[in-house]
Amino acid sequence: MKTLQRTLTIVKPDAVRKNAIGDIIEQFEKNNFRILCLKMLEISKHQAEQFYAVHAAKPFYNSLTDFMSSGPIVALALEKENAIADLRKLMGATNPANAEEGTIRKKWGASIEHNAIHGSDAEDTAGFELSFFFAGYELAK
Ligand code: CMP
Repeated sequence: MKTLQRTLTIVKPDAVRKNAIGDIIEQFEKNNFRILCLKMLEISKHQAEQFYAVHAAKPFYNSLTDFMSSGPIVALALEKENAIADLRKLMGATNPANAEEGTIRKKWGASIEHNAIHGSDAEDTAGFELSFFFAGYELAK
């Protein structure tokens, strides 16, 4: 069954440095995601640690949070039927080396860490991640 969902996506610092923001947003629009909110910002190491707290025990946590706080990012709230799964399909595998042709990570990702884009992986994480970057009044539409 199809349900209208919201998901949080981030154009990561590597993709911003490659001037890929426009290309990635075009993919969202071409694939019928509605852009609810969008902001370009930089996050601190501490903020990156809070966002990725679920990975705190992982060996890549320190490097990941250094990377995510290394430059500007673009956070977007997207809406679509089955937005969470559809965005993950459009992004491709976490490791760009395993990503399918035509996916965002295949085109723009360089490594499992520098993989161009983040997308929420489930409804509960989408809720947390949307409210991490956007206030209630911004999402109230
Ligand atoms: P993302 O979708 O943002 O969610 C967590 C991130 O951790 C993931 O994308 C990768 O960029 C990163 N990641 C996952 N596994 C590894 C790993 N083995 N080594 C380095 N980074 C990883």
